Amino acid sequence: MGGQELAATARAMVAPGKGLLAADESYDTANRRFEKLGIATTAEMRRAYREMLFTTPSIGDFLSGVILFDETIRQSTKDGTPFIKVLQDAGIIPGIKLDAGAKPLAKAPSELVSEGLDGLRDRIAEYYKLGARFAKWRGVITIGDGIPSNRCIKTNAHALARYAALCQEGGLVPIIEPEVLIDGDHTLERSYAVHHEVLKAVFDELYIQGIEPEQMILKPSMVLPGKKSPQQASVEEVARFTVKCLKERVPAAVPGCAFLSGGQSDEDATAHLNAMNALFKDELPWRLTFSYSRALQQTAMQIWNGREENVAAAQKELYRRARLNSAASLGQYRP
Ligand code: 13P
Repeated sequence: MGGQELAATARAMVAPGKGLLAADESYDTANRRFEKLGIATTAEMRRAYREMLFTTPSIGDFLSGVILFDETIRQSTKDGTPFIKVLQDAGIIPGIKLDAGAKPLAKAPSELVSEGLDGLRDRIAEYYKLGARFAKWRGVITIGDGIPSNRCIKTNAHALARYAALCQEGGLVPIIEPEVLIDGDHTLERSYAVHHEVLKAVFDELYIQGIEPEQMILKPSMVLPGKKSPQQASVEEVARFTVKCLKERVPAAVPGCAFLSGGQSDEDATAHLNAMNALFKDELPWRLTFSYSRALQQTAMQIWNGREENVAAAQKELYRRARLNSAASLGQYRP
Protein backbone atom coordinates (compact mmCIF):
# COMPACT_ATOMS: atom_id res chain seq x y z
CA MET A 1 0.00 0.00 0.00
CA GLY A 2 2.64 2.46 -1.07
CA GLY A 3 2.22 5.86 -2.62
CA GLN A 4 2.07 4.45 -6.14
CA GLU A 5 -0.86 2.24 -5.26
CA LEU A 6 -2.70 5.15 -3.65
CA ALA A 7 -2.08 7.37 -6.68
CA ALA A 8 -3.30 4.58 -9.00
CA THR A 9 -6.47 4.15 -6.92
CA ALA A 10 -7.10 7.92 -6.95
CA ARG A 11 -6.76 8.00 -10.74
CA ALA A 12 -9.05 4.98 -11.10
CA MET A 13 -11.70 6.73 -8.98
CA VAL A 14 -11.94 9.49 -11.59
CA ALA A 15 -11.33 7.38 -14.71
CA PRO A 16 -12.98 8.81 -17.85
CA GLY A 17 -16.75 8.33 -17.82
CA LYS A 18 -16.82 7.12 -14.22
CA GLY A 19 -17.86 8.61 -10.91
CA LEU A 20 -18.78 7.61 -7.39
CA LEU A 21 -22.01 6.60 -5.71
CA ALA A 22 -22.23 7.93 -2.16
CA ALA A 23 -24.18 5.24 -0.30
CA ASP A 24 -22.72 6.11 3.09
CA GLU A 25 -25.76 7.67 4.71
CA SER A 26 -25.57 7.31 8.49
CA TYR A 27 -28.38 5.62 10.42
CA ASP A 28 -30.06 9.01 10.99
CA THR A 29 -29.85 10.18 7.39
CA ALA A 30 -30.93 6.85 5.89
CA ASN A 31 -33.83 6.57 8.35
CA ARG A 32 -34.95 10.16 7.71
CA ARG A 33 -35.15 9.44 3.97
CA PHE A 34 -37.00 6.16 4.57
CA GLU A 35 -39.46 7.80 6.98
CA LYS A 36 -40.43 10.41 4.40
CA LEU A 37 -41.48 7.60 2.08
CA GLY A 38 -43.11 5.46 4.77
CA ILE A 39 -40.40 2.77 4.56
CA ALA A 40 -39.65 0.90 7.83
CA THR A 41 -36.43 2.16 9.45
CA THR A 42 -34.89 -1.22 10.23
CA ALA A 43 -31.42 -2.67 9.63
CA GLU A 44 -33.01 -5.22 7.27
CA MET A 45 -34.65 -2.51 5.15
CA ARG A 46 -31.39 -0.57 4.94
CA ARG A 47 -29.66 -3.81 3.89
CA ALA A 48 -32.31 -4.65 1.30
CA TYR A 49 -32.10 -1.12 -0.10
CA ARG A 50 -28.33 -1.22 -0.45
CA GLU A 51 -28.56 -4.68 -2.03
CA MET A 52 -30.90 -3.20 -4.63
CA LEU A 53 -28.36 -0.43 -5.38
CA PHE A 54 -25.24 -2.60 -5.52
CA THR A 55 -26.70 -5.43 -7.58
CA THR A 56 -27.92 -3.11 -10.35
CA PRO A 57 -26.90 -4.91 -13.56
CA SER A 58 -23.86 -3.32 -15.29
CA ILE A 59 -23.69 -0.38 -12.84
CA GLY A 60 -19.91 -0.81 -12.89
CA ASP A 61 -19.97 0.70 -16.41
CA PHE A 62 -20.44 4.12 -14.79
CA LEU A 63 -19.26 3.77 -11.19
CA SER A 64 -15.60 3.62 -10.20
CA GLY A 65 -16.41 3.39 -6.52
CA VAL A 66 -19.11 3.28 -3.88
CA ILE A 67 -18.81 4.98 -0.48
CA LEU A 68 -20.16 2.75 2.30
CA PHE A 69 -21.20 3.34 5.90
CA ASP A 70 -19.91 1.21 8.81
CA GLU A 71 -23.14 -0.80 8.96
CA THR A 72 -23.19 -1.35 5.19
CA ILE A 73 -19.59 -2.46 4.74
CA ARG A 74 -20.35 -5.40 7.07
CA GLN A 75 -23.61 -6.42 5.35
CA SER A 76 -24.30 -9.03 2.67
CA THR A 77 -26.89 -9.81 0.04
CA LYS A 78 -29.83 -11.99 1.02
CA ASP A 79 -27.97 -15.02 -0.38
CA GLY A 80 -24.95 -14.25 1.82
CA THR A 81 -22.49 -12.54 -0.55
CA PRO A 82 -20.72 -9.69 1.29
CA PHE A 83 -21.45 -6.30 -0.31
CA ILE A 84 -17.70 -5.74 -0.57
CA LYS A 85 -17.44 -8.80 -2.85
CA VAL A 86 -20.48 -7.76 -4.91
CA LEU A 87 -18.79 -4.42 -5.60
CA GLN A 88 -15.35 -5.88 -6.27
CA ASP A 89 -16.85 -8.41 -8.71
CA ALA A 90 -18.51 -5.51 -10.56
CA GLY A 91 -15.12 -3.74 -10.87
CA ILE A 92 -16.16 -1.12 -8.30
CA ILE A 93 -13.78 0.06 -5.56
CA PRO A 94 -15.31 0.00 -2.06
CA GLY A 95 -14.80 3.07 0.13
CA ILE A 96 -15.83 4.00 3.66
CA LYS A 97 -17.19 7.08 5.41
CA LEU A 98 -14.89 7.89 8.32
CA ASP A 99 -16.24 11.06 9.89
CA ALA A 100 -18.67 10.51 12.75
CA GLY A 101 -20.96 13.33 11.72
CA ALA A 102 -21.06 17.10 12.05
CA LYS A 103 -21.71 18.35 15.60
CA PRO A 104 -22.16 21.90 16.97
CA LEU A 105 -18.86 23.74 17.17
CA ALA A 106 -18.04 24.72 20.76
CA LYS A 107 -19.16 28.26 21.57
CA ALA A 108 -20.66 28.62 18.07
CA PRO A 109 -23.78 26.42 18.04
CA SER A 110 -24.95 27.57 14.60
CA GLU A 111 -21.75 26.18 13.08
CA LEU A 112 -20.57 22.59 12.81
CA VAL A 113 -17.39 20.57 13.10
CA SER A 114 -17.09 16.92 12.11
CA GLU A 115 -16.00 14.44 14.75
CA GLY A 116 -14.22 11.11 14.42
CA LEU A 117 -10.46 11.59 14.75
CA ASP A 118 -10.03 9.64 18.00
CA GLY A 119 -9.08 6.04 17.31
CA LEU A 120 -9.10 6.67 13.57
CA ARG A 121 -5.80 4.90 12.84
CA ASP A 122 -7.21 1.60 14.16
CA ARG A 123 -10.50 2.02 12.30
CA ILE A 124 -8.61 2.64 9.07
CA ALA A 125 -6.60 -0.56 9.58
CA GLU A 126 -9.82 -2.54 10.09
CA TYR A 127 -11.56 -1.08 7.02
CA TYR A 128 -8.47 -1.72 4.89
CA LYS A 129 -8.60 -5.36 5.97
CA LEU A 130 -12.29 -5.51 5.08
CA GLY A 131 -11.41 -4.33 1.55
CA ALA A 132 -11.91 -0.55 1.54
CA ARG A 133 -9.38 1.32 -0.61
CA PHE A 134 -10.58 4.89 -0.16
CA ALA A 135 -12.40 6.93 2.46
CA LYS A 136 -14.49 10.04 2.90
CA TRP A 137 -14.68 12.77 5.51
CA ARG A 138 -17.24 15.56 5.22
CA GLY A 139 -16.81 18.95 6.84
CA VAL A 140 -19.85 21.24 6.79
CA ILE A 141 -19.73 25.00 6.28
CA THR A 142 -22.89 27.07 6.70
CA ILE A 143 -23.37 30.48 5.10
CA GLY A 144 -25.44 32.95 7.13
CA ASP A 145 -25.36 36.19 9.06
CA GLY A 146 -21.71 36.65 10.05
CA ILE A 147 -20.85 33.02 9.27
CA PRO A 148 -18.87 31.03 8.35
CA SER A 149 -16.42 32.18 10.99
CA ASN A 150 -12.74 31.88 10.41
CA ARG A 151 -12.63 29.49 13.39
CA CYS A 152 -15.19 27.16 11.84
CA ILE A 153 -13.35 27.08 8.51
CA LYS A 154 -9.97 26.46 10.17
CA THR A 155 -11.27 23.80 12.56
CA ASN A 156 -12.89 21.81 9.75
CA ALA A 157 -9.87 22.21 7.48
CA HIS A 158 -7.60 20.96 10.26
CA ALA A 159 -9.77 17.90 10.91
CA LEU A 160 -9.92 17.10 7.18
CA ALA A 161 -6.13 17.30 6.94
CA ARG A 162 -5.52 15.12 9.99
CA TYR A 163 -7.98 12.54 8.66
CA ALA A 164 -6.29 12.65 5.24
CA ALA A 165 -2.84 12.07 6.73
CA LEU A 166 -4.06 9.01 8.65
CA CYS A 167 -5.69 7.67 5.48
CA GLN A 168 -2.58 8.02 3.32
CA GLU A 169 -0.50 6.43 6.09
CA GLY A 170 -2.96 3.54 6.38
CA GLY A 171 -3.40 2.84 2.65
CA LEU A 172 -6.71 4.57 1.90
CA VAL A 173 -7.15 7.37 -0.64
CA PRO A 174 -8.82 10.24 1.25
CA ILE A 175 -11.78 11.99 -0.29
CA ILE A 176 -11.65 15.50 1.16
CA GLU A 177 -15.18 16.87 1.32
CA PRO A 178 -15.60 20.45 2.51
CA GLU A 179 -19.30 21.02 1.82
CA VAL A 180 -20.57 24.59 1.67
CA LEU A 181 -24.32 24.21 2.20
CA ILE A 182 -26.87 25.66 -0.22
CA ASP A 183 -29.24 26.48 2.66
CA GLY A 184 -29.95 30.21 2.95
CA ASP A 185 -30.57 33.18 0.69
CA HIS A 186 -26.98 34.10 -0.20
CA THR A 187 -25.95 35.12 -3.72
CA LEU A 188 -23.80 33.20 -6.19
CA GLU A 189 -21.00 35.71 -5.54
CA ARG A 190 -21.11 35.07 -1.79
CA SER A 191 -20.99 31.33 -2.38
CA TYR A 192 -17.96 31.84 -4.60
CA ALA A 193 -16.20 33.95 -1.92
CA VAL A 194 -16.88 31.36 0.80
CA HIS A 195 -15.76 28.44 -1.39
CA HIS A 196 -12.60 30.37 -2.19
CA GLU A 197 -11.79 30.93 1.48
CA VAL A 198 -12.67 27.37 2.48
CA LEU A 199 -10.59 25.76 -0.26
CA LYS A 200 -7.63 27.98 0.60
CA ALA A 201 -7.83 26.93 4.25
CA VAL A 202 -8.21 23.25 3.31
CA PHE A 203 -5.23 23.15 0.95
CA ASP A 204 -3.08 25.12 3.42
CA GLU A 205 -3.81 22.51 6.10
CA LEU A 206 -3.30 19.61 3.70
CA TYR A 207 0.12 21.02 2.90
CA ILE A 208 1.00 21.38 6.58
CA GLN A 209 -0.04 17.77 7.27
CA GLY A 210 2.08 16.49 4.36
CA ILE A 211 -0.76 15.25 2.17
CA GLU A 212 0.30 14.05 -1.29
CA PRO A 213 -2.08 15.74 -3.74
CA GLU A 214 -1.71 12.87 -6.26
CA GLN A 215 -3.10 10.48 -3.65
CA MET A 216 -6.36 12.23 -2.81
CA ILE A 217 -9.67 13.24 -4.38
CA LEU A 218 -11.47 16.51 -3.63
CA LYS A 219 -15.23 16.33 -3.17
CA PRO A 220 -16.37 19.93 -3.44
CA SER A 221 -19.78 21.49 -3.49
CA MET A 222 -20.70 23.49 -6.57
CA VAL A 223 -20.76 27.28 -6.38
CA LEU A 224 -24.52 27.93 -6.24
CA PRO A 225 -26.73 30.70 -4.88
CA GLY A 226 -28.58 29.81 -1.66
CA LYS A 227 -31.73 27.81 -2.38
CA LYS A 228 -33.83 30.66 -0.92
CA SER A 229 -32.02 33.35 -2.91
CA PRO A 230 -34.37 35.33 -5.16
CA GLN A 231 -31.55 35.53 -7.68
CA GLN A 232 -31.00 32.03 -9.06
CA ALA A 233 -28.18 31.37 -11.52
CA SER A 234 -28.06 29.90 -15.00
CA VAL A 235 -26.40 26.55 -15.63
CA GLU A 236 -23.56 28.33 -17.40
CA GLU A 237 -23.00 30.77 -14.50
CA VAL A 238 -22.79 27.93 -12.00
CA ALA A 239 -20.31 26.13 -14.22
CA ARG A 240 -18.22 29.26 -14.76
CA PHE A 241 -18.03 30.29 -11.09
CA THR A 242 -17.33 26.76 -9.92
CA VAL A 243 -14.55 26.13 -12.45
CA LYS A 244 -13.01 29.55 -11.77
CA CYS A 245 -12.95 28.90 -8.02
CA LEU A 246 -11.49 25.41 -8.37
CA LYS A 247 -8.84 26.57 -10.84
CA GLU A 248 -7.74 29.26 -8.40
CA ARG A 249 -7.56 26.94 -5.42
CA VAL A 250 -7.03 23.28 -6.35
CA PRO A 251 -3.49 22.14 -7.27
CA ALA A 252 -3.18 20.59 -10.72
CA ALA A 253 -1.57 17.50 -9.15
CA VAL A 254 -4.92 16.46 -7.63
CA PRO A 255 -6.28 13.83 -10.07
CA GLY A 256 -9.90 14.81 -9.78
CA CYS A 257 -12.80 16.56 -8.13
CA ALA A 258 -15.94 14.48 -7.60
CA PHE A 259 -18.82 16.77 -6.70
CA LEU A 260 -21.51 16.24 -4.09
CA SER A 261 -25.04 17.09 -5.21
CA GLY A 262 -26.02 18.95 -2.04
CA GLY A 263 -29.79 18.97 -2.49
CA GLN A 264 -29.90 20.00 -6.16
CA SER A 265 -32.49 18.27 -8.33
CA ASP A 266 -31.29 15.22 -10.26
CA GLU A 267 -31.42 17.17 -13.50
CA ASP A 268 -29.59 20.25 -12.18
CA ALA A 269 -26.76 18.18 -10.70
CA THR A 270 -26.26 16.49 -14.08
CA ALA A 271 -26.60 19.69 -16.14
CA HIS A 272 -24.11 21.62 -13.99
CA LEU A 273 -21.49 18.87 -14.16
CA ASN A 274 -21.99 18.59 -17.88
CA ALA A 275 -21.62 22.34 -18.46
CA MET A 276 -18.31 22.42 -16.59
CA ASN A 277 -16.92 19.61 -18.73
CA ALA A 278 -18.45 20.80 -22.00
CA LEU A 279 -17.58 24.51 -21.72
CA PHE A 280 -14.18 24.33 -20.07
CA LYS A 281 -12.77 20.97 -21.12
CA ASP A 282 -9.55 22.40 -22.53
CA GLU A 283 -8.78 24.37 -19.35
CA LEU A 284 -9.21 21.71 -16.68
CA PRO A 285 -6.03 20.26 -15.12
CA TRP A 286 -8.03 17.58 -13.24
CA ARG A 287 -11.03 15.41 -14.01
CA LEU A 288 -14.45 16.65 -12.88
CA THR A 289 -16.99 13.96 -12.06
CA PHE A 290 -19.77 13.05 -9.62
CA SER A 291 -19.92 11.58 -6.14
CA TYR A 292 -23.64 11.97 -5.60
CA SER A 293 -25.95 10.50 -3.03
CA ARG A 294 -29.34 12.17 -3.48
CA ALA A 295 -28.97 13.08 -7.17
CA LEU A 296 -28.30 9.41 -8.00
CA GLN A 297 -30.55 7.72 -5.47
CA GLN A 298 -33.60 9.79 -4.65
CA THR A 299 -35.82 8.76 -7.56
CA ALA A 300 -34.68 5.13 -7.35
CA MET A 301 -35.52 5.10 -3.63
CA GLN A 302 -39.00 6.43 -4.31
CA ILE A 303 -39.59 3.76 -6.94
CA TRP A 304 -38.26 0.99 -4.68
CA ASN A 305 -40.38 2.13 -1.71
CA GLY A 306 -39.33 -0.87 0.37
CA ARG A 307 -40.88 -3.48 -1.96
CA GLU A 308 -39.15 -6.45 -3.51
CA GLU A 309 -41.37 -6.26 -6.59
CA ASN A 310 -40.04 -2.76 -7.38
CA VAL A 311 -36.35 -3.71 -7.33
CA ALA A 312 -35.91 -4.04 -11.10
CA ALA A 313 -37.63 -0.70 -11.83
CA ALA A 314 -35.59 1.10 -9.16
CA GLN A 315 -32.37 -0.39 -10.54
CA LYS A 316 -33.31 0.77 -14.01
CA GLU A 317 -33.66 4.33 -12.70
CA LEU A 318 -30.34 4.22 -10.82
CA TYR A 319 -28.66 2.88 -13.96
CA ARG A 320 -30.21 5.68 -16.03
CA ARG A 321 -29.05 8.46 -13.68
CA ALA A 322 -25.56 6.94 -13.45
CA ARG A 323 -25.42 6.78 -17.26
CA LEU A 324 -26.50 10.42 -17.62
CA ASN A 325 -23.94 11.57 -15.04
CA SER A 326 -21.27 9.51 -16.74
CA ALA A 327 -22.09 11.37 -19.97
CA ALA A 328 -21.96 14.68 -18.03
CA SER A 329 -18.51 13.82 -16.71
CA LEU A 330 -17.42 13.72 -20.35
CA GLY A 331 -19.39 16.86 -21.34
CA GLN A 332 -21.64 14.69 -23.53
CA TYR A 333 -24.98 14.86 -21.70
CA ARG A 334 -28.02 15.76 -23.79
CA PRO A 335 -31.12 16.44 -21.63
P1 13P B 1 -25.37 14.47 -1.78
O1 13P B 1 -24.95 14.18 -3.18
O2 13P B 1 -26.76 14.04 -1.45
O3 13P B 1 -25.08 15.90 -1.39
O4 13P B 1 -24.47 13.58 -0.83
C1 13P B 1 -23.13 13.48 -1.09
C2 13P B 1 -22.42 13.11 0.13
O5 13P B 1 -21.70 12.15 0.14
C3 13P B 1 -22.60 13.94 1.32
O6 13P B 1 -21.57 13.68 2.23
